[in-house]
Amino acid sequence: MKSGELMSKLTPSTLREAFGHFPSGVIAIAAEIEGVREGLAASTFVPVSLDPPLVSFCVQNISTTWPKLKSAPMLGISVLGEAPDEAAKTLAAKTGDRFAGLETVSNGSGAVFIKGTGLWLESAIEQLVPAGDHTIVVLRVTEVKVDADVAPIVFHRSVFRRLGV
Ligand SMILES: Cc1cc2nc3c(=O)[nH]c(=O)nc-3n(C[C@H](O)[C@H](O)[C@H](O)COP(=O)(O)O)c2cc1C
Repeated sequence: MKSGELMSKLTPSTLREAFGHFPSGVIAIAAEIEGVREGLAASTFVPVSLDPPLVSFCVQNISTTWPKLKSAPMLGISVLGEAPDEAAKTLAAKTGDRFAGLETVSNGSGAVFIKGTGLWLESAIEQLVPAGDHTIVVLRVTEVKVDADVAPIVFHRSVFRRLGV
């Protein structure tokens, strides 16, 4: 779609391009399942509620990784930082090692976190809400760890950007 053009057709590809104008952070959502790390990158993360502590993200119904993650008692959410800048792409890779070049920490609950990221949230699935070709996953946060020195990466119009401050 050209700049200034009105959207004439609502197709998945014009919508993907349009939704891309909304900048977002990127999280890794990961867990160790039967000794194997599973995870994916997601740009649909939203903090939801303070009391009870809830967050959400949307997962594609065709995801082959989500059914595995869904079985884990606890999931690790890491808000990705500027470095390593390939982390989001690596975590979204269709083939190969999703954790290549990334240092991870697994806690006793099975939640997996990416080292060097700005925020870790240990969480458990609270609710699954069907929403079109995605499912809204509502998660209850059980533990939080913040590293205020790590600047987040921003996903905007299919490009990973850095905050300009
Ligand atoms: C920047 C970025 C954001 C993404 N956001 C989401 C998302 O919010 N939800 C989702 O289900 N997949 C998202 N993906 C795709 C997943 O990271 C991953 O590629 C996909 O789950 C792989 O397929 P699989 O689940 O069958 O292994 C995103 C990918 C990238 C690169």
